Amino acid sequence: MSELKRKPLRLGVAGLGTVGVGVVNIVENSGDMLSTRAGQRIVVSAVSARDRGRDRGIDLSAYGWHDNAVDLAGDDSVDLVVELMGGSDGPAYALAKACLAAGKPFVTANKALIATHGKELAALAEASKTALRFEAAVAGGLPVVKALMEGLTANKINELYGILNRTCNYILTRMEREKLAFDDVLSEAQKIGYAEADPTFDIDGIDTAHKTAILAAIAFGIAPDLGNLPTEGIRNIAPVDIDYARELGYRIKLLGVARQTGEGVEVRVHPAMVPLSSPLASVMDATNAVLITGDQVGQTGYEGPGAGQGPTASSVIADVVDVARGICYPPLGVPVNDLKKLPYLGSESHIGTYYIRLRVTDVPGVMAEITQSLAAETVSIESMLQRGHAEGGGVYIVLTTHETTEQSAIAALSHFNALDCVLESPAMLRIETA
Ligand SMILES: NC(=O)c1ccc[n+]([C@@H]2O[C@H](COP(=O)([O-])OP(=O)(O)OC[C@H]3O[C@@H](n4cnc5c(N)ncnc54)[C@H](OP(=O)(O)O)[C@@H]3O)[C@@H](O)[C@H]2O)c1
Repeated sequence: MSELKRKPLRLGVAGLGTVGVGVVNIVENSGDMLSTRAGQRIVVSAVSARDRGRDRGIDLSAYGWHDNAVDLAGDDSVDLVVELMGGSDGPAYALAKACLAAGKPFVTANKALIATHGKELAALAEASKTALRFEAAVAGGLPVVKALMEGLTANKINELYGILNRTCNYILTRMEREKLAFDDVLSEAQKIGYAEADPTFDIDGIDTAHKTAILAAIAFGIAPDLGNLPTEGIRNIAPVDIDYARELGYRIKLLGVARQTGEGVEVRVHPAMVPLSSPLASVMDATNAVLITGDQVGQTGYEGPGAGQGPTASSVIADVVDVARGICYPPLGVPVNDLKKLPYLGSESHIGTYYIRLRVTDVPGVMAEITQSLAAETVSIESMLQRGHAEGGGVYIVLTTHETTEQSAIAALSHFNALDCVLESPAMLRIETA
């Protein structure tokens, strides 16, 4: 066995929930393997959580305890802090700042923290020449941050797509397989722990937005920016749209999309139809996937568990091992001073194809009114179907458009809304050719 560094790398773990316990378990159970790989023994030295008395299924007696997690930053028995509490502000943010200002390496799985304060924290880390790592913040066990930072570094990244939220993908999968309504699947998902009691963060796309902001930042050399990230979730996806998607050769997924063009960057989160032939269409249940297209390598894909104790702790430990190996590069891939200020392209200027579903009265002349509304906005139809009787009365007319700007597609929807023959607000979904 090659020689290890004399002193172990001593971890302070803030947060002993799902991921924190996973991290402690790996350190305790795979110590020898990690030591050989890291060139240094890795041990847990101190921990913090809210409730000291809680049974977490692990023995904490050998570790120092802090009621206040921020104290880990000043604990001399801790060489590196692993933050697994969560939250964009509060103790996670305070701890990150205290560690990085003091030159103590900081590893986190906290996407909200990095998406919100990534630039400031990266600047602190660079100033003190300290590692700030956050692989587990995006897509749990998948090494996508590392792929962008290291393996794909020779590439200009043109675009990336992510299925980044397991709750949403699980809900959409069950809606399709079992022909269930959104609310029914959501309440079952809550019962089995796949959705939180307050599911807003997941189903309204906020979690995906945090992760997409981080990926876009590293991919394009910009600061994470939640303020320029239009975000829509999956609450309004109806089973009927899932069925029509299938009939038209698509599947609905909640996507994080980041694209760089000559004019600027587009970063957005929304449900979209993807062709059944796309690798994204076969990503089902709680699985995550990321497709990254670089100018040299072409399209690369990463698929697997995006959350859960083992997968997330696996990524946290990968970061810890990198720190032990002495790897320390600018946290956002390029120095903060070199981050670009690229213009954000609003979604209205996005050019794409769209799916539109209308519930209309079943009388002659309706089709003509619909095509006139589209023509008024120079939106041309690629395909159109009319099907049986719609729930609530009338019939459904479903169409897909040729390429058009989002602004024109939205303007066509307002024409539809003004028509007497249209019985409810039309549903519209973007079609992504990933
Ligand atoms: N779970 C996943 O699959 C997953 C995947 C990717 C990323 N992440 C990220 O990993 C982080 C942790 O997630 P988790 O699922 O492990 O959360 P969790 O199970 O809710 O655990 C959170 C832990 O933080 C502790 N904590 C909360 N506030 C604290 C405070 N003020 N001071 C000290 N400790 C505090 C809690 O203490 P008590 O136990 O005493 O209440 C608990 O041990 C989050 O940033 C999350 O977004 C999680």
